[in-house]
Amino acid sequence: MTTYLSTFTAGLGVPARRALEERLPGVRIELELDGLIVYEAGGETAAICNLPFFNNSFVVLKTFPGLRPERGKEILDEMLAATLRDADLPRSIPGRLKGTFRLVTAWSNVLTAVDRDLLEKVEARIAASGPPGRLRPHRGRPAHELWLSYRSEGHGFLLLRLTRHTAYEKVLEKGELRPELAWMLCWLSEPREGELVLDPFCGSGAIPLLRASRVAQFPRGLVLASDLDAAQVEKLKTRVKHADLRRRVVVRQGDARHLSRYEDGSIHKIVTDPPWGIFRELEEGPETFYREVLAELGRVLAPGGLLVILLARPDFPLPLPITLEVVESWPILVSGKKAVVHKLRKPPGTAGVPPAC
Ligand SMILES: C[S@@+](CC[C@H](N)C(=O)[O-])C[C@H]1O[C@@H](n2cnc3c(N)ncnc32)[C@H](O)[C@@H]1O
Repeated sequence: MTTYLSTFTAGLGVPARRALEERLPGVRIELELDGLIVYEAGGETAAICNLPFFNNSFVVLKTFPGLRPERGKEILDEMLAATLRDADLPRSIPGRLKGTFRLVTAWSNVLTAVDRDLLEKVEARIAASGPPGRLRPHRGRPAHELWLSYRSEGHGFLLLRLTRHTAYEKVLEKGELRPELAWMLCWLSEPREGELVLDPFCGSGAIPLLRASRVAQFPRGLVLASDLDAAQVEKLKTRVKHADLRRRVVVRQGDARHLSRYEDGSIHKIVTDPPWGIFRELEEGPETFYREVLAELGRVLAPGGLLVILLARPDFPLPLPITLEVVESWPILVSGKKAVVHKLRKPPGTAGVPPAC
């Protein structure tokens, strides 16, 4: 068994734990903090790297017991000094680790500068932990990263980073959801084989593309994507074509307040990320906009169907129509901004659920 630490969207602790237990049966959870989970698991490390709802995953090499909470940044220098004195350090560094590495220091999730001399001494000590030349400190683009990390709840870790994510700011379109969050929204909708899934505010298509392309993680379904913005729609059509997903994603232009092409109760799931009304004001104000949108989504949703919706205004009282009820809500942080995920259901018992396609 190995102890791992993974980070995820702050606020989604309960669903992240459920998703982890579902995907790694037998996992033993050791610690849960906001946006972070420590757990013991057997099997291949590759399985941890491939968990699609985590931002980053690490192997825990050491913990620092007895740290007080809410310590200032000087705690990192104290942790470095303790690492330097630690007679056990060579045994904590995995024997298979070879090549270049650097030690990164993080205080409450923020990369933080520390006493350079001390840092280099600890790096030299780590390099000396194996046969000469096996591990070499390199601050440029090393093969491995070790992290010395302090969390303000009073926890400290020496970690080996497993995942290296793409620099999302370079590959994602403006406003496009990060894949980990889009994955979690899709998973919260309890995907089923053959269902009709709608994203009526699809933008650049993070949700529809992910729901349709992760065939090993989500059962097949037909995804209907629409957006008011004609340029976004054309761009997404091209992405769908290039990803060879034309049989699984249908893209159309449309206003989410008037989904007249869909009959009452015809859609099994809706997963969506409507405009936040922050960068550009919603014409008639958020109250009217969301009342109209939710009434229309409640109309097209099948009885028993689910709507998972991400909103940027956590305190905004949802103008819920009688066709929808709240199942669960999670206040979250998206790029440091407060938001909320609501899971809503259309109560079963109204006229017939459409047969799966
Ligand atoms: C927050 S963005 C969605 C971003 C998307 N999840 C992504 O990953 O790119 C909201 C989208 O809603 C669209 N929109 C705004 N008003 C709309 C309306 N009345 N009906 C449909 N789409 C609308 C905008 O054009 C924008 O693309």
